Amino acid sequence: EKSELEARARSIKERLGRRLFIPGHHYQKDEVIQFADATGDSLQLAQLAAKNDEAEYIVFCGVHFMAETADILTREEQVVILPDMRAGCSMADMADLFQVERAWTALTDLFGETIIPLVYVNSTAAIKAFVGRQGGATVTSSNAKNMVKWAFSQKERVFFLPDQHLGRNTAYALGVSLDEMAVWDPREESLQCSGPVDNVKVILWKGHCSVHENFTVRQIEQIRRTKPEMNIIVHPECSWEVVQQADYAGSTKYIIEMIRNAPPGSQWAIGTEMNLVNRLKNEHPDKEIISLNPYMCPCLTMNRIDLPHFVWALESLEQGVVVNRITVPNEVACQAKAALDRMLALA
Ligand code: 13P
Ligand code: SF4
Repeated sequence: EKSELEARARSIKERLGRRLFIPGHHYQKDEVIQFADATGDSLQLAQLAAKNDEAEYIVFCGVHFMAETADILTREEQVVILPDMRAGCSMADMADLFQVERAWTALTDLFGETIIPLVYVNSTAAIKAFVGRQGGATVTSSNAKNMVKWAFSQKERVFFLPDQHLGRNTAYALGVSLDEMAVWDPREESLQCSGPVDNVKVILWKGHCSVHENFTVRQIEQIRRTKPEMNIIVHPECSWEVVQQADYAGSTKYIIEMIRNAPPGSQWAIGTEMNLVNRLKNEHPDKEIISLNPYMCPCLTMNRIDLPHFVWALESLEQGVVVNRITVPNEVACQAKAALDRMLALA
């Protein structure tokens, strides 16, 4: 069954040729990523979408917010398809536009004009558009440091959403102390800070990634005890405590490059999504690679893009039917593009 589906996908891909472009995020399943024309982290995929003006159909193997970004950055006639509409992101779901507008009103009441928003690309187009309207920008895990620096060149304070961990880890690496950070809780509509509010430089949205929160300091301690030779490398969506205890932290692209350039025989415990860890393990049999969490950590929504959905989307195209098209309304797209362009200009 699987090999038959693979054969069908291959032959449609061949027939559609350059009319079809398939970007694939590093967390996608092997059964799907084998058909990707390009693989990358969130930043690379956004850049590829911006560059491709040739393909008629972009079948996006990733999650909903990535397909939205592809739609925003491509021409109107280019059709972006997400093989399974249920492939969302639990982090992006932790911030909706209404909550963000309420937070912004409260924060600008408190801090006046001294604050600028930065939004992680793992967010809806509507929120990117809101941030674009306020003069802010998007960030990804591979350019977060540069973007936070840029934000501080614009204003005294940064409102970072929706991932508190990426925000905290990045600001801390740039010298902002934990006392100078506050957390906005969208449910309580309250600001939690440990120091005086006037000293706050970074306001973090209380959101997180449900995959990366499964890596813990206890797992690191366990590895340090049992396998002291192991290098520990994690994604900055992990908590601040985990990032502090790890040897290295960076985006999926950074993790891949570190493993690729590591000497044979070296040992690595990786704190990121399971499909990527397994792929690295298979690609580097000369290195010892394990997941930092022994139970592995799949991103269930990424995994919804599977071979049957992928083939269904391709075969529908051949029959002249576009399924699961992702379209961002024009006005939203235009304002979200302003936020994305500010990032891409600096990338
Ligand atoms: P990057 O691809 O930017 O490292 O982000 C990881 C992620 O969680 C994507 O959803
Ligand atoms: Fe969202 Fe986390 Fe999955 Fe990335 S890994 S898509 S941030 S839930």
